[in-house]
Amino acid sequence: MLQRPRRNRQSAVIRDMVEETRLSVKDMLFPLFVQSGTGKQTAIASMPGINRYSVDLLLKEIDACANLGIRSFALFPQVEESFKDSIASESHRKGSLYLDAIHAVSSRFPEISLLTDVAMDPYSSDGHDGIVKDGQILNDETLPVLAKMAIAQAQAGSRLIGPSDMMDGRVGYLREALDGAGFSNVGIMAYTAKYASAFYGPFRDALESAPKFGDKKTYQMNPANRREALIELELDEAEGADFLMVKPALAYLDIIALLRENSHLPIAAYNVSGEYAMIKAAAQNGWLDGEKAMLESLLSIKRAGAQVILTYFAKEFAQLNQA
Ligand code: PBG
Repeated sequence: MLQRPRRNRQSAVIRDMVEETRLSVKDMLFPLFVQSGTGKQTAIASMPGINRYSVDLLLKEIDACANLGIRSFALFPQVEESFKDSIASESHRKGSLYLDAIHAVSSRFPEISLLTDVAMDPYSSDGHDGIVKDGQILNDETLPVLAKMAIAQAQAGSRLIGPSDMMDGRVGYLREALDGAGFSNVGIMAYTAKYASAFYGPFRDALESAPKFGDKKTYQMNPANRREALIELELDEAEGADFLMVKPALAYLDIIALLRENSHLPIAAYNVSGEYAMIKAAAQNGWLDGEKAMLESLLSIKRAGAQVILTYFAKEFAQLNQA
């Protein structure tokens, strides 16, 4: 035998030498949930270890994470039912919980990156990402609402927006709207290949944002489709996206690799709430080693080609990294 692959596996130092992929806290983007009130912290039952914070405690949590080396965050709001309507007015109202939170975070922590969410669902009385009429999700009518939201977020201090809605043409529409309002430096992390997935369940619990009727299959992608992700890639690139995202991550590693091979833009992957919940639930039952399963799945996402990993494991990873 001339080739013996086991020679390069025989000691920890050799294994480290030939290691092809290494995780860093710099890869991690930590999604956080904000709620109204002060001094309020609410555990999300289906996401052990994850909480919704009022703005004052959110600032403390970001401070603690920043001390662990986490520099990138995403933020999603839980909007009280009484503020929801069919046109998501609350999404661009000055003085809203979310815009105030963006302002508070970006002025207190100018050195961090905060991805702010552009989609109607947290504010929509229909629980959908677009305007609903006669049971249909309207595309072109939704775009101006998204633009108002993006501009309001930029005015509040956002430097990176994440349209998570999957309306056609929204990246270009938002790019033009931001440029027109003097925000040409505000970046867009496009949810390029966002699939209609069962793995978003715990997130919808966290925000109480589940659709009130039907599902999201007329705008989110069919999990069976791979080539279609390339259509979305070409559109988002042409429309001026700064990052391309794949969501979910673990059941879509092939899509991450596909986008990596077909674009020069940075690729992000969203390791979603259900993917987090699965590992946590199994670990709580003693069915697998949660820490090892976390590290292995984060590694697989990076190995597949993602440069940015949105993950609820970010803090745990950072803590482990420090230890
Ligand atoms: C909706 C949105 C969803 C997530 C982020 N933005 C859920 C959905 O499409 O219903 C899910 C994230 C997660 O599951 O962690 N705009």
